[in-house]
Amino acid sequence: MSKVAIVMGSKSDLPVMQDAIDILKTFKIEVEVDIVSAHRTPDKLYDFSTNAHQRGIKVIIAGAGGAAHLPGMVASMSPLPVIGVPVKSSNSIDGWDSVLSILQMPGGVPVATVALNGAKNAGILAAQIIGASDPDVLESILMYKEGLKAKVIDSSKDLKA
Ligand code: RP5
Repeated sequence: MSKVAIVMGSKSDLPVMQDAIDILKTFKIEVEVDIVSAHRTPDKLYDFSTNAHQRGIKVIIAGAGGAAHLPGMVASMSPLPVIGVPVKSSNSIDGWDSVLSILQMPGGVPVATVALNGAKNAGILAAQIIGASDPDVLESILMYKEGLKAKVIDSSKDLKA
């Protein structure tokens, strides 16, 4: 079974990163969650990044705030697709520091960066990557998109009522 790893630089990132955990659970995708700090636990970062693909993990979501080096460093060592979530943390000036640290990767080392605190979209994107080769997950994504459409149509009807 395909698994998504969700790592974050600190437990203080969890309130934001919980959105990725929750949405992946609704798609019935197994998640593995851990704290891995690029600056405080560099050895753990190395072990995680170099081994993740050998444990059934297909996509990595990495969230961090401030000088957010975690997603980029994971991407530098892992062959798996990495989705970066910039977190507006207590040590972030205004969120731009986290966004730019994760977004502006050098050529050859991509990190698919979502919006500031955009962990829900990170979870959906991870599910879509898995869904490209897993028909059950693809079906869940199609149903999710139908649900989004139905909500807009219902709101539109409510306005007119
Ligand atoms: C980053 O520093 C973490 O990802 C977190 O967003 C931020 C603050 O960490 P704590 O000081 O709350 O542990 O590395």
